[in-house]
Amino acid sequence: MDTECETDHTLTVGSGVPMSAYTATDAPNAAALAETAQAMTAPGSGILAADESNATMNSRLAKVGLDGTPEVRMAYRQTLLETPDLGDYISGVILFDETIRQTATTGTSFIQLVKDARIIPGIKVDTGAKPLSNSHHEKVTEGLDGLADRLKEYADMGARFAKWRAVINIGDGLPSAKALHVNAHALARYAALCQAAGIVPIVEPEVLMTGDHGIERAEEVTTAALRAVFDELAKQDVLFEGMVLKPNMVVPGDTAPDQASVEQVAGATLRVLYRTVPAAVAGIAFLSGGQSDDAATDHLQAMNAGRTHPWSLTFSYGRALIASALETWRGDAANAAAAQAVLHERAKANAAASAGRYKKESVPA
Ligand code: 13P
Repeated sequence: MDTECETDHTLTVGSGVPMSAYTATDAPNAAALAETAQAMTAPGSGILAADESNATMNSRLAKVGLDGTPEVRMAYRQTLLETPDLGDYISGVILFDETIRQTATTGTSFIQLVKDARIIPGIKVDTGAKPLSNSHHEKVTEGLDGLADRLKEYADMGARFAKWRAVINIGDGLPSAKALHVNAHALARYAALCQAAGIVPIVEPEVLMTGDHGIERAEEVTTAALRAVFDELAKQDVLFEGMVLKPNMVVPGDTAPDQASVEQVAGATLRVLYRTVPAAVAGIAFLSGGQSDDAATDHLQAMNAGRTHPWSLTFSYGRALIASALETWRGDAANAAAAQAVLHERAKANAAASAGRYKKESVPA
């Protein structure tokens, strides 16, 4: 038999294997994954990233004079999640491993607290960005070992989506092609494992805004990062309809002499997304990345105002949603209602921006 000839005429897809092998649409949970991903990114709502690692949370608590103990971290997150009507504006909450295992002082588990608020529970599953060998100050995110088992455990607990964050630095000669590749590869491995476990992956390649680079460089690097990520996702047959992309907005470096207007940021960000993100992706939920609360809302509004896109464009903010609530709370139960009012205001404003109907004056203080 002339096998060479047969091989020559075999159609290939995605990872280059014959069409009879696995393709993204074979995902056993395809319809449920797509439904969850759409619910997470429905216009008029967005995601609350309350999944700071203990080290990150402790440094934020220290800034308001609090000790980072499990009890303080729990009290803070309980305060956030008990915000009245949070589910009107928040579709999903990302929890950290410690939190998903905790029980609130009311005796309700955190996961139940989230569900009671009509919010989809999610979980951060990467184990952090670690130094990348053979490179200058670059990082690769770890956490793939044992991930299939951990995902099963989280799914049994009730988590319906997960998050994995890769970090890409802009600097002199950075990022390297190597850093883009290994981070994209790990993101795709994670996403594939999530979908096999019936969990929607949030795929987060964050190009950091640290530095003095201009918006043009941020656009170039974000384009390269997203190209690398979608190339790997396709090679690993990830179902685009059953995932959520969590990118940075395209902004100049935080110490750049020339800062950009709201229109410039919205324009550059949309240009990158249209050039790199397949229309089949269920939704895009931005990180805030160190932008001010107002800038994060204004940029989202500018991208959605009067336009429709192939995907919904919403938020998955950490700092831009909850930093001011933490400032208000400061560990004092007497401040809980005021802190919740601050979070409510930010959530409401960003939910409106995700539907292109945010007007500054329409949000009560
Ligand atoms: P920020 O919005 O504070 O960037 O956090 C979002 C997030 O989840 C980072 O992984």
